[in-house]
Amino acid sequence: MNNKPYLQLALDFFDLPTALAVTQKACTQVDVIEIGTPLTKAAGMLAVQTIRAFCPEKLILADVKTPDVGGGEAKMCFDAGADWMTVIGAAPLDTVRLALQEAQSRPDKEMFIELTGIRDILARAEEWRKLGVDRMVYHRGWDEGNASRLWQQSDLDTIQKLIDYGFKMSVAGGIELDSLSFFQGLDISVFIIGRAIYAASDHEKAAAQFREKIHHLWKV
Ligand code: 5RP
Ligand code: MG
Repeated sequence: MNNKPYLQLALDFFDLPTALAVTQKACTQVDVIEIGTPLTKAAGMLAVQTIRAFCPEKLILADVKTPDVGGGEAKMCFDAGADWMTVIGAAPLDTVRLALQEAQSRPDKEMFIELTGIRDILARAEEWRKLGVDRMVYHRGWDEGNASRLWQQSDLDTIQKLIDYGFKMSVAGGIELDSLSFFQGLDISVFIIGRAIYAASDHEKAAAQFREKIHHLWKV
């Protein structure tokens, strides 16, 4: 174990005012704020700029899940104030390379491969590693989760293999407070939590509970 996992709040909203209201309540309890994929489509880079201005001291991830035009989309996210951005795992290697180049051309910017829907993760991981990618989001998609796809041992095995390959792993997808212990023992870099925080009646309290439980389970 290297470090305690970060807590990332995913703002998967369809309008900016709602996202801002939740951020206002919960941001002190989290390490990273994610401009969720729907929010990047609904409000564009204005969402990144607004949350950046509101939370200047937090890391910000723009979950654009870029499929093409990797360099241009990475530039757009970083120019707007994001520290991190995502490229979808199905993107061509050229797209990954160009987004990575853009991240590496600036201080402290990072590109993540987002694994939603990718089946041959371990085979693709070797190609990404050769390009120099070192961060990924392992994601049980919303639609899969709603269709009763449960977290299972094979997910843990794949995440552990990716960690062994040298990737820093973020994990996402319907994670609830009681799900955290399922991942105990893995050197997770970031837990991404959306609905379990913003659907709670008290967003700050819910975020604080995640923070405390992560710190309790990952004593390093
Ligand atoms: C959906 C996403 C979400 O940000 C991710 O699933 C985290 O949110 P939740 O905890 O609500 O599942 O990227 O595509
Ligand atoms: Mg997301």
